[in-house]
Amino acid sequence: WIAFTISSDQTMASEPVNVSEFEALAKKALPKMYFDFYAGGAEDEYTLKDNEEAYQRITIRPRVLVDVSRIDTSTSILGYPISSPIMVAPSALHQLANPEGELATARASAASNTIMILSFSSSYNVEEVAASCDAVRFFQLYVYRGRHIAANLVERAERSGYKAIVLTVDCPRLGRREADIRNRMIVPKLKNVEGFVSNDVDADVAWLKSITSLPILLKGILTHEDALKAVEVGAAGVIVSNHGARQLDYSPATITVVEEVVRAVKGKIPVIVDGGVRRGTDVFKALALGAQAVLVGRPIIYGLAAKGEQGVKQVIQMLKDEFELTMALAGCTSLKDITRSHVRTDRDRF
Ligand code: FNR
Repeated sequence: WIAFTISSDQTMASEPVNVSEFEALAKKALPKMYFDFYAGGAEDEYTLKDNEEAYQRITIRPRVLVDVSRIDTSTSILGYPISSPIMVAPSALHQLANPEGELATARASAASNTIMILSFSSSYNVEEVAASCDAVRFFQLYVYRGRHIAANLVERAERSGYKAIVLTVDCPRLGRREADIRNRMIVPKLKNVEGFVSNDVDADVAWLKSITSLPILLKGILTHEDALKAVEVGAAGVIVSNHGARQLDYSPATITVVEEVVRAVKGKIPVIVDGGVRRGTDVFKALALGAQAVLVGRPIIYGLAAKGEQGVKQVIQMLKDEFELTMALAGCTSLKDITRSHVRTDRDRF
């Protein structure tokens, strides 16, 4: 009986109990080159660590004298309802993680009643992903100097029912990811890529608006200056992001600049944040600081690598369950109850 107990305990131990534990499973499942491609960040990977650690420096101020017998985690983004403020970030090449690639990620996102943002650099094309299941999804775009590729993709995304364009503006050139250099990781030639991204945001957004009626969100904003500019050019929302710390090392951990961006946009457009979200408490902290939702990048890919569609569903569910528990323990029954006074950051005085 003792032997039985020990061995069944070991079986239990291999089942992940939190999102971070999917990383080890993905590492086992993938060739080193691919795992490193997903996991890596730019240069010293200072910002990569800081994206997660900055959340750990924020504490939660719970209000316990609240009836929390019913908790509602639902919200909406650009008018589209989602079951919780946790969405799927655009990330490249899901087929390196699982043969079903983005088709599996899209089905898992749909089953979780959330929105997936399909990457410009996806393994399956916009039509294939749209046909895989019925759900609201957004399309992430880079505008390269020759605009014809972007024009073609936007037209196809709109025709196949994508509801917004997420224009990523932090990639005028590719960041230096040393693991990929060491592994001689050659990203499969992306048909969509051609020269440098233009990043003339005034001209690009004006041009995009002339070819599509879809709302345009700008992804990769880290300062109040750029946030103001995003409002000026008519963005429908901003995503505070440092591209999962894969571009400029020593850019700030994203959670530390959310308030700066929120103050700059003055409620005119929604603010979303990504980078280092690994716990339901992180989601809660982001909302307390003024974000409307978060995006999750690597954990989704790790779920996909470890267990395919089921793994992605589990990752989203775990974060959602943790977030719901956090709301209950902090005394918030709906998202509007989560306020700035529910968190304490290094900048707050005691
Ligand atoms: C990304 N990210 C990204 N962003 C984007 O706009 N277009 C893209 O094609 C990609 N590709 C991509 C690949 C991989 C492997 C990673 C890890 C990330 C950035 C992504 O959208 C998001 O900003 C970060 O992943 C969020 O950080 P976490 O959740 O991974 O810490």
